[in-house]
Amino acid sequence: MKVNILRVVALSLVVSTALVILTRLSNAQGSRTQNSSTTTTQAATPEKALEQVRKNIQVLNGMPQSQLYPTMRFMAASLGVNCGFCHAVKNGQLDSPSDDNPEKQTAREMIKMVVKINMTLGKGDREVSCYTCHRGRTSPQGFPTLPLPLPPPLAQRAAVADSSSQASPKARPGLPSADDVLNRYSAAIGGKSASDRIKSCLIKGTSATWNGQPVAYETGQSVPDKGYEVFITQGGTSERVINGPRGWLKNADGVQELLGQQLADQKLSFPLFAILKLKDQYSSERVSGQDKIDDRDAYVVSAIRLDNKRERLYFDVENGLLRRRICYTRTMIGAIPEQTDFEDYREVEGLKLPFTITTSFVDSRSPIVTRKFTEIKLNIPLDESKFDKPQPKNATVP
Ligand code: HEC
Ligand code: HEC
Repeated sequence: MKVNILRVVALSLVVSTALVILTRLSNAQGSRTQNSSTTTTQAATPEKALEQVRKNIQVLNGMPQSQLYPTMRFMAASLGVNCGFCHAVKNGQLDSPSDDNPEKQTAREMIKMVVKINMTLGKGDREVSCYTCHRGRTSPQGFPTLPLPLPPPLAQRAAVADSSSQASPKARPGLPSADDVLNRYSAAIGGKSASDRIKSCLIKGTSATWNGQPVAYETGQSVPDKGYEVFITQGGTSERVINGPRGWLKNADGVQELLGQQLADQKLSFPLFAILKLKDQYSSERVSGQDKIDDRDAYVVSAIRLDNKRERLYFDVENGLLRRRICYTRTMIGAIPEQTDFEDYREVEGLKLPFTITTSFVDSRSPIVTRKFTEIKLNIPLDESKFDKPQPKNATVP
């Protein structure tokens, strides 16, 4: 009897882990946007606009379909609420097309306002979003909290004014050029010829969400544009595959095609494609300042990808390695960030590669996914069938 209960508990743990991962996967695919791909030459299958695929869209017209969930999660995170704050819940289920909940209408007015503000501001680097005012609360703070903090002595004020509350790192004279930083990075990971030699890789390890148990993970990549990732749980496997201009995501809901921007974003989430040939991924880049990550100094490079996505890259000042990459997805309601941290660089056949990659998302249910590698093999033949469209059959999540 006891054994059975234990089994049930163990199984449900596994299942919930699997679910988190599977949702994470569909979220991850959702967190990526429209546009053409980075280095994939042929265009991916285009996306549809939201109003073509959803029932009751009145203000988010024209938004690419894959931006719906990232946008919803971003609004929820900005207000510090969950989906049911704006959406009606019927029989324990979210009835998202319903307009029964008045907060949804308020949110529509807010969306219109944000779109208008950003139109007024123009196409600046910074955008106003729900978070700009809400900061994780339903009621934005409209007044300063009294009593005000005591002002610092005059001498300190200039310095404080200089560095205060700026989300962007401080630009200082004497910073290297972006070219220098990127060239130094290329040398730090082993040099151009070592990178150019890499045609494929096979990586094994684990993947874990912040509260989930690590599950087995495997990825294979083949230059220039093939890759797969498999997450193996007892509840089944989930996969992400790209093969030239096409790509798929397999999770508990079956197999879906990666559309438009999702394909390019997926490609960049593969470890090798993310870190090799970094310079080729951008149309422009500049060093925007210096910052710290875990007490280590980093140069910050602001870059624009070939597909027009903005990024911010952090390179370790001392060793030149890429430490962090933040990608911004522009949406109607502001830019949604996604952050990837690269750690534990080790040498593999003359190349320095990160053995831990942590990605953070604007998603309160699964804010962090960490991939830890136990083995990286370079230039070995891969099973080509792994780049085929996945079969839904073994995605058995009860
Ligand atoms: C701050 C309010 C708010 C929150 C929080 C919110 N939504 Fe929405 N949601 C909206 C609004 C407003 C629309 C309609 C947009 C329009 O009319 O263009 C919408 C539309 C949708 C739709 C499309 C429905 C249809 O078929 O027309 C889905 C699906 C959805 N939301 C899911 C979610 C999920 C899942 C969450 C939680 C992660 C969530 N929403 C959180 C306000 C919200
Ligand atoms: C310019 C500042 C500003 C921005 C930007 C903004 N809001 Fe608001 N929002 C407010 C203010 C002010 C209120 C009123 C709060 C109150 O009544 O206490 C409010 C209220 C709301 C409410 C009602 C909250 C409640 O308690 O019923 C919702 C829902 C909401 N906002 C959603 C959004 C969404 C979604 C976005 C982004 C698309 C957004 N807001 C962007 C300022 C803003």
